[in-house]
Amino acid sequence: MSETSTASKWPRHVAVIMDGNGRWAKKRFMPRAAGHHAGVKSVRATVEGCARRGVEVLTLFAFSSENWKRPAEEVSSLMNLFVQALEREVDVMHRNGIRVRFIGQRSLLSDQLQQGMADAERRTQANTGMQVVIAVAYGGRWDLLQATSRLARQCARGERDAEQLQEADISANLELHDLPDPDLFIRTGGERRISNFLLWNLAYTELYFTDVLWPDFGDAELADAFTYFNERQRRFGLTAEQLEKQSAGKAGSAMREPG
Ligand code: IPE
Ligand code: IPE
Ligand code: MG
Repeated sequence: MSETSTASKWPRHVAVIMDGNGRWAKKRFMPRAAGHHAGVKSVRATVEGCARRGVEVLTLFAFSSENWKRPAEEVSSLMNLFVQALEREVDVMHRNGIRVRFIGQRSLLSDQLQQGMADAERRTQANTGMQVVIAVAYGGRWDLLQATSRLARQCARGERDAEQLQEADISANLELHDLPDPDLFIRTGGERRISNFLLWNLAYTELYFTDVLWPDFGDAELADAFTYFNERQRRFGLTAEQLEKQSAGKAGSAMREPG
């Protein structure tokens, strides 16, 4: 969905893998849960920083399909943290005009959490500020699978012709069907991998990796990621010369515009 453009130097959509909480805690001889708690303030700083910079959508990876395999104690402390954070952080976001939305396999979450998520979405749905998308129990492969299953069912019922399927049909059935693809991806914590995040949507996203652990990520670190983004030339398969010609053309037509 992203446009072929070099002009827009600000990311409209930023997607973040918030990694390194466990290592942050370990370095301090604290339990892993303490690292997850400490990470909440980085969420706040990132939401504020992105909103202030005019980002339209911020997608945060909070819990992956694979994270269910962690020790039961850690999973349950994370789930408790989500419930707590929902209560406090959604209030703050709502006051700031932010719209909140969740993606992922919700049916796997507790009733209390599902309820809290639905309430947060309802409460903030009329807000017109930045949209914050929180991925919980989310996996990129799950997302593609549920899109594919839906399309397969439609084909089986004769509502759709399998021979005519387009890329747009898959996009339209993914969790982020109505949003532009991420322009900038940030992963903290030093790993250089996607870990089953938005597999389809990240096809042309600029990837930024930092060794900073998530609880240490603040506005200065966010600024560094934006600087990195700013220095990229997004070619979308074209040559640099083609892009230069395009932007010269645009500048020319802008100058010819009356008024
Ligand atoms: C990210 O931090 C939070 C979740 C995956 C829920 P980690 O818990 O993965 O922290 P590290 O990678 O062990 O340091
Ligand atoms: C990715 O972090 C998931 C989230 C941040 C929610 P992980 O720490 O689970 O990723 P891997 O397993 O090390 O790649
Ligand atoms: Mg990790």
